[in-house]
Amino acid sequence: MPSLDQTLDEYADTLYGGEDELLRSMRENAASVGMPLIQVPADLGRMLTVLVQASRATTILEIGALFGYSTVILARALPLDGSLVSLEIDPERAELVRINLRRAGLESRATVMSGPAMDSLQLLADRRFDFVFIDADKASYPQYLEWATKLTRSGAVIVADNVWRGGQVVETAGDCNAAGAARYNEIMAQDSRFSTTLLPTRGGTDAAGISVRCRD
Ligand code: SAH
Ligand code: DHB
Ligand code: MG
Repeated sequence: MPSLDQTLDEYADTLYGGEDELLRSMRENAASVGMPLIQVPADLGRMLTVLVQASRATTILEIGALFGYSTVILARALPLDGSLVSLEIDPERAELVRINLRRAGLESRATVMSGPAMDSLQLLADRRFDFVFIDADKASYPQYLEWATKLTRSGAVIVADNVWRGGQVVETAGDCNAAGAARYNEIMAQDSRFSTTLLPTRGGTDAAGISVRCRD
């Protein structure tokens, strides 16, 4: 028998849409070239769409693009005059993201910067973003949060994927990725400029941190 989680996922996907043809073909193509299939699950994808639209974001920063699955979801949620910048360390992945954005007809709304995110962020120091999605190497989440704070103002939303990691964040000894995610959660919790909640994903094995900035 499928678990209650699976049944609920199927129910939600049937009602509200899981992935369309383009996202499905992007995923299958990524699988066929050996890409790890660690893109956002459908429920988090819908949450990103709702948050971008509820916050009326027009500028989005994404850190960690893989093959562009979440990139396409985020860019689609923007108004026509909106813009997205996505940072991806792997040049081949970055190129695939650009190809997928073209296939989605989103190339005029989205730019991919290839290279280590910390280098690209330096180049974006004068920009401001309404929405930040953090999903690259978990060890660097505290630094990404520092940048996200620098690049946002009151009203902005910051979402960080994978901040639970099967509960590893509560026993951080050893894994620098779990330690980075744990530190991210702690810093966010201490920062009174943000209201934050954790949204369970992947059947409760992981979570996304969802934060809104209440003051500059
Ligand atoms: N957001 C994507 C999944 C991202 S997976 C989605 O949901 O569809 C994490 C990505 O972060 C990988 O593609 C990896 O290459 C990239 N990454 C890892 N370290 C990075 C760094 N220092 N700078 C930028 N990207 C990085
Ligand atoms: C991993 C990274 C992710 O961004 C994710 O959503 C799931 C897994 C990973 O590095 O294992
Ligand atoms: Mg992730």
